Amino acid sequence: MKLKIGVFASHGGSNMQAIIDGCKSGEINGEVTVVICNNSKAKALERAKNEKIPFYHISSTKYVEQEEHDKEILRTLKKHDVNIIALAGYMKKLGEKVLKKYENRVLNIHPALLPKYGGKGMYGLNVHKAVIAAKEKQTGATVHLVNEAYDEGDILKSVIVPVLDDDTPESLAQRVIIQEHKLYVKTLSEISKGNILIGKHR
Ligand code: GRF
Repeated sequence: MKLKIGVFASHGGSNMQAIIDGCKSGEINGEVTVVICNNSKAKALERAKNEKIPFYHISSTKYVEQEEHDKEILRTLKKHDVNIIALAGYMKKLGEKVLKKYENRVLNIHPALLPKYGGKGMYGLNVHKAVIAAKEKQTGATVHLVNEAYDEGDILKSVIVPVLDDDTPESLAQRVIIQEHKLYVKTLSEISKGNILIGKHR
């Protein structure tokens, strides 16, 4: 299946870039047809612009009502023919309507081995701080499907990253994110080859 990926990002967009590069190299049979951001200052928007991919800033300041916000997102996804959503550091929750329409077709990446270190407050360096504080010997990254309970959807693929004795949250984050990029591309590649089933095939 040729993937038409809608990427949602809020900040740097390094995972988004990895996905774009994975499509360009042919590893993923697909293309990023649109980028949606809730933050007008996100570097992800700049990256989309550089790549000549249509991008939209859809903010909850403009679309205050969830219903309107959802509608605008769905309109945008439809316009760009999106058949799979990849959340890549998107800090806002997707509304029910979007999740319903794209049931089992919304992916997210998390910088830990879910179900550990997921849920409320577990984002960015908080995750790696918690992993080090718990003296874990290993952590990693997980790509999972998104349902209403965010980090609790089916796990599609994960990768293990060892925690070193002298790791700081920052050094650990740096090693994990490199693996995130590979993992997200690999997962989307397998989906595009039909080796991982999504949507109504699940
Ligand atoms: C990544 O660590 C990802 O796991 C998490 O948010 C971060 C986004 O980084 N969900 P980037 O914007 O892709 O660089």
